[in-house]
Amino acid sequence: MSSSTYGNFPGARPRRLRTTPAMRRMVAEHRLHPADLILPAFVREGISEPVPIGAMPGVLQHTRDTLRKAAVEAVEAGVAGIMLFGVPEEAKKDAAGTAGTDPDGILQQGIRDVRAEVGDDLVIMSDLCLDEYTDHGHCGVLDAEGRVDNDATLERYAEMAQVQADAGVHVVGPSGMMDGQVGVIRDALDQTGHEDVSILAYTAKYASAFFGPFREAVGSSLKGDRKTYQQDYGNSRESLRELALDLQEGADMVMVKPGMPYLDVLAKIAEAVDVPVAAYQISGEYAMVEAAAEKGWIDRDAAILEALTGFKRAGADMILTYWATEVARKL
Ligand code: PBG
Repeated sequence: MSSSTYGNFPGARPRRLRTTPAMRRMVAEHRLHPADLILPAFVREGISEPVPIGAMPGVLQHTRDTLRKAAVEAVEAGVAGIMLFGVPEEAKKDAAGTAGTDPDGILQQGIRDVRAEVGDDLVIMSDLCLDEYTDHGHCGVLDAEGRVDNDATLERYAEMAQVQADAGVHVVGPSGMMDGQVGVIRDALDQTGHEDVSILAYTAKYASAFFGPFREAVGSSLKGDRKTYQQDYGNSRESLRELALDLQEGADMVMVKPGMPYLDVLAKIAEAVDVPVAAYQISGEYAMVEAAAEKGWIDRDAAILEALTGFKRAGADMILTYWATEVARKL
């Protein structure tokens, strides 16, 4: 178009900056780095071989031994951290989630193992929640009417914080969405000489259908849902209130979870804070990509990078992803 009624139409050609891979790479605003990634990992009690998780192809319930190996592989790939979840023997579950506060419980053993294996080369984090250990599968203890009892649960979380910190964790990740949990955990850590253990608060955590595969991953006993404690997906403003409370109570870092359906919440929180922000690409997000790829309906590797970069674009500093080691190796 040499002459036009619009003068030098079109005056702006944004496509110039998309012409070659080198050009696109140069002008990219956001990119992934292995140090952005955190690997969630499951360690199961009483197994001698790792157990594959059906709804999460490629993810395992680790033995204590294979967990150590996974931690070493993560370090070698340059991954930033590991978030540990314990899966106790079924017989050890009870109403109070006692195995979660047993110094020799499976999560505490896993923390000690990983710390002994990789020391400070990986930021070692632990899920601080009762749902893996309760026979009813809820994130807290129940009252006489069968409702999740907030304040009684906080006492259990304080004990969990201490045993996890005693086992050598660098960061605890309270994920139960009880009111006041961050403050109670901060106090418990400080009073037991663990001032240096930091708190990654699950600040905006929504009651989500996308947690489905996680139930299998931890052998959850839950019937029903978590809608009386996790947030309602119709709400956004509420996340800012949860954020204000967590920061006031002493959260060192905050998280949004799930990831992809909540990028608006992530962006809002990332704009509002002056602490590091994490996003958790959860089990259902993982399963969807793997399932579609398995059917040949999606380019698996391209979809993974696109989804992960989307979290960075929305404002995440760190991303918890079951693909952490694989992706870190490729970057
Ligand atoms: C609670 C917890 C859950 C997840 C992480 N911590 C389950 C839930 O809240 O129902 C889900 C992680 C995932 O789906 O990948 N301990």
